[in-house]
Amino acid sequence: MDSGGEGVDIRSASKSYGAVRALDDVTLRIEPREFVSLLGPSGSGKTTLLGLLGGFIQPSSGSIHFGGRDVTQVPPHKRDIGVVFQNYALFPHMSVGENVAFPLRARRLPRASWPEKVRAALTMVDLSGYEERGIAQLSGGQRQRVALARAMIFEPRLILMDEPLSALDKQLRESMQIELRGLHRRIGATIIYVTHDQREALTMSDRVAVLKGGRLVQVDRPAQLHDHPADSFVASFIGEASLLPVRRLDCSSVALGPTVLRSARAIPDSDALILAVHSEKLLIDDGDGDGVRNRLTGQVTDVVYQGESLRIFLTLPDGTALSLRQPSHHEACRRIPSVGGNLTVTLHPEDIIVVPEARI
Ligand SMILES: Nc1ncnc2c1ncn2[C@@H]1O[C@H](COP(=O)(O)OP(=O)(O)O)[C@@H](O)[C@H]1O
Ligand SMILES: [Mg+2]
Repeated sequence: MDSGGEGVDIRSASKSYGAVRALDDVTLRIEPREFVSLLGPSGSGKTTLLGLLGGFIQPSSGSIHFGGRDVTQVPPHKRDIGVVFQNYALFPHMSVGENVAFPLRARRLPRASWPEKVRAALTMVDLSGYEERGIAQLSGGQRQRVALARAMIFEPRLILMDEPLSALDKQLRESMQIELRGLHRRIGATIIYVTHDQREALTMSDRVAVLKGGRLVQVDRPAQLHDHPADSFVASFIGEASLLPVRRLDCSSVALGPTVLRSARAIPDSDALILAVHSEKLLIDDGDGDGVRNRLTGQVTDVVYQGESLRIFLTLPDGTALSLRQPSHHEACRRIPSVGGNLTVTLHPEDIIVVPEARI
């Protein structure tokens, strides 16, 4: 199974429901075989955008193109896409095999060809030999894999998924994320995946499209999104960051209260600036005193043990609160004082991320 993948073009797509602008002028190009996540909080327009791609929702304006062909007016069943939703939408009275074969029936493919295709699709999702099982006999994870097999059986070049793992518990969700990555590599289809979980989006995607209030805020590769957020909304949404208002001093430094911080990156020219401090980038000072790193000293207000890491909460003398995360086996953790004590942390100029404050 290698479908080649469909290229997708969304051109100035908008969708209004009365006064509600669910999608506002979204333009996005997705390459063949790309895995792109649509990420955003509840109500940001993710499902609406996926609906436009699937043909379940008509745009108020703009157009959708597959492989250069305008499909805006093409009904869902003629778009040749696989679709997987959160609630599986399996037929409970049918066996696993009948569920998986359903798209073949709907497409009127010769019945003789079904068993081999069903077997291949079930093998793909690690459910070989499950043809005769009833849906009620399956676990949540197995059901979701049946839904995946059903979406893939006609080898679609484009698969749409709307929060397909959100009903599963954390462990299963994480293992399914890795399985989906592998599956994507094997089948070579284009996948567009809706999630509100930033870790899930970072784990699986070639690129992540961040939505807010129906608009695309930033579309980038995961590491770029994390380390070069476009504004404070993206910075707050991706990774674990303390967001602190700062004042611009010049093109390479800002003031955090009374403290001057030097940045290796250009400081944007704006009145409302936010410093995003990723908790893993604040390091406990080892006292070797290089002149390069920025230093901050604060009072420890809490130390939380979380297994593989410790999260330490600090308050700076001007009242600013921030947190850092250290691997709990790390030597430097021995230098953490008890609550109430002072701790000096360092932040490399490369890691001074200053972004414009997002408009509401
Ligand atoms: N059928 C509808 N009628 C009216 N408003 C809708 C409808 N579908 C979605 N909306 C509104 O459009 C916005 C985007 O919704 P949706 O795309 O479902 O967001 P998400 O999937 O990101 O949670 C929300 O404000 C939602 O209330
Ligand atoms: Mg949704």
